[in-house]
Amino acid sequence: MKFSFFKETTPSLIGVDISSVSIKMVELSDDGRGGYKLEGYATQPLPKGAMVDGNVADLEKLIEVMKLAWKLLGSREKRVALALPTAAVISKKVQMSAGLREEDMEAQVEAEANQYIPFSLDEVNIDFQILGPAANNPDEVEVLIAASRKEKIEDRVAVAEGAGLKAMIMDVESYATEAAYTLVANQLPNAGREQTVMIADIGAAMMHVNVLHDNKSIYTREQSFGGGQLTQEIQSRFGLSPEEAEMAKRKGGLPDSYDSEVLQPFIQSVAMEVARAMQFFTSSTQYNRVDHIVLAGGCSAIAALDIAVQSLTKVNTVVANPFNSMTINTKLKQQQAITDAPAMLIACGLAMRGGLPL
Ligand SMILES: Nc1ncnc2c1ncn2[C@@H]1O[C@H](COP(=O)(O)OP(=O)(O)OP(=O)(O)O)[C@@H](O)[C@H]1O
Ligand SMILES: [Mg+2]
Repeated sequence: MKFSFFKETTPSLIGVDISSVSIKMVELSDDGRGGYKLEGYATQPLPKGAMVDGNVADLEKLIEVMKLAWKLLGSREKRVALALPTAAVISKKVQMSAGLREEDMEAQVEAEANQYIPFSLDEVNIDFQILGPAANNPDEVEVLIAASRKEKIEDRVAVAEGAGLKAMIMDVESYATEAAYTLVANQLPNAGREQTVMIADIGAAMMHVNVLHDNKSIYTREQSFGGGQLTQEIQSRFGLSPEEAEMAKRKGGLPDSYDSEVLQPFIQSVAMEVARAMQFFTSSTQYNRVDHIVLAGGCSAIAALDIAVQSLTKVNTVVANPFNSMTINTKLKQQQAITDAPAMLIACGLAMRGGLPL
């Protein structure tokens, strides 16, 4: 199978985010007024050990959950866009002479890739995209090359195909976040133009950081940190199973001590991780400040998390709502959709990719 990180968009396919602990799907359509309509979305938890370090570890279990998620989504569409974890993809920007023919450019991309990829070229898939004219030389263009091991792609495709779905696009999680950011930029003053914006996607196991300047991605980083720590703490404090703890977290019903002894300390630790990630960014790049923080991922549904992050970092903080500017299918629970929206950022970005065949 071929694959492509960079292809145009046409509406109608399902964005599928396979995370460490769940499979999430989003289906969008054209609302007829230049925007998106949210047709549906679904989340299904994965059993422990199904995904390990971003790799498919138990194909059969993943297929089973993929089928369940698709059923829950209630769509007839079978074409899907998937993504690789950012860490599974080597991305590099290079400059090439502007007037190259397609074949010459491909040859040069291979030559460049050969230099920095630690595997033999027949073990990897490579794709590239011309970003635009090079800033320092009008005769050259800036080209983004992305490469990943074939088996990482094939494993994910096998999950989709095992569930009767058709994999059309293989994207990268950080690119999907960037695409979905266009849906949330209007939550910021001046739609984020000319500003430095840090997206912190805090999931169950991972915190994905993506910094954009003037709406272009300039920095990404992933670290292991997430809501799973809070779930574990709830389990051990109150003697609950993982499922019970997960439910209690979302729906409440825990003893009074939960808020002050468990939840508030966790909120503080999230704020500290975000502050640390911001310091890491400013100290390792030419940028010396962040103008806005956008919180995403399931953890950002925690009440007042944005306030805690803002008061520690002293940076304006908002919770991403990628469904914000969409028409929402009347069959969906509107309030629930808003609560779930921040966790669907990557799946939204994938759904926006739409379906050119591979
Ligand atoms: N309403 C809520 N209140 C508190 N926590 C929540 C809420 N909804 C979801 N979460 C937590 O968010 C986490 C899941 O977030 P998300 O769906 O973004 O993770 P993921 O993408 O599946 O995993 P990862 O990106 O870490 O691999 C879980 O720890 C879950 O308990
Ligand atoms: Mg995630």
